[in-house]
Amino acid sequence: MVRITIDGLDFEVPKGTTVLEAARRNGFEIPTLCYHEALEPIGSCRLCLVELGGGEKGEVVSSCTHPVEKDGLVVYTESPAVLQARKMNLSLLLARCPGVKCLQDLAYSWWVDSTALPVLGDYEKECILCGRCVRVCREAIGKEAISFTFRGVDRQVLPPFKQQPDDCIGCTACAYVCPTGAVKVTEEEGRRFIAPWKSDLPLYFCDSCEAPVTTIENSSSLEEKIQETGLPPGSMRPSFKTGEREPEGTGSDPEKNADEEMLCPRCRRRRVTESIARLPREKQDRSWIKARQGYK
Ligand code: FES
Repeated sequence: MVRITIDGLDFEVPKGTTVLEAARRNGFEIPTLCYHEALEPIGSCRLCLVELGGGEKGEVVSSCTHPVEKDGLVVYTESPAVLQARKMNLSLLLARCPGVKCLQDLAYSWWVDSTALPVLGDYEKECILCGRCVRVCREAIGKEAISFTFRGVDRQVLPPFKQQPDDCIGCTACAYVCPTGAVKVTEEEGRRFIAPWKSDLPLYFCDSCEAPVTTIENSSSLEEKIQETGLPPGSMRPSFKTGEREPEGTGSDPEKNADEEMLCPRCRRRRVTESIARLPREKQDRSWIKARQGYK
């Protein structure tokens, strides 16, 4: 553990924790846009600025990329230098993407005059170039469907050659981590579309309720990952694995072996529950019921 002082209060945090994590764990509010706890920080939005040291030798840094390595770090989260720089960066983001709701909310909470700078972008523009989508695709999914292209004011996140990316599996992780809603996902007529990347991929449907589940490519990618970990094939496949057949009248093919079926999470839960209920009482694992009764 190492000692850190944040806004005059002393704390102990594990060595290597970033200043942002140390501050947030101890209740300090620092705004962020490009930071996501599941991704490597890159310090691109410059909203999480803090001042180290203070006074004339104070240094303003992005807290999401600055680790606490030794005792005695003194941090100010709302010094005049921090507030001035943070507001300026927020104004620049707003000038680029004036219509983005999360920027407007941040401007409101940090007393930023959204009309201080002339509007450079249009109200439709929603990408603030935080890079979360690029990083989640590369770091978490292991693909490179999108990347930053061009420089300066022309900088954008795009698939290679602005064409539907071969690497996109339609997992929608990019949409999940996007803080502004710039990545739009729609599903229509058995296909999933991810608008900015022009992705257009077929979905598979639950064999029981016929609801769309995910893309075929995403399902195959999960299978591959599971096999790499050494787990038996099919461990993550959303199919029913007990060898039971679907009860009559529930909508799926009664001739089909349930091991081959692709089920959505809801139907899979229902099938597991039904198969447990059909077991003779002595074969049911009732330990959780007893535990619960004991708790009451
Ligand atoms: Fe630290 Fe964006 S959250 S720079």
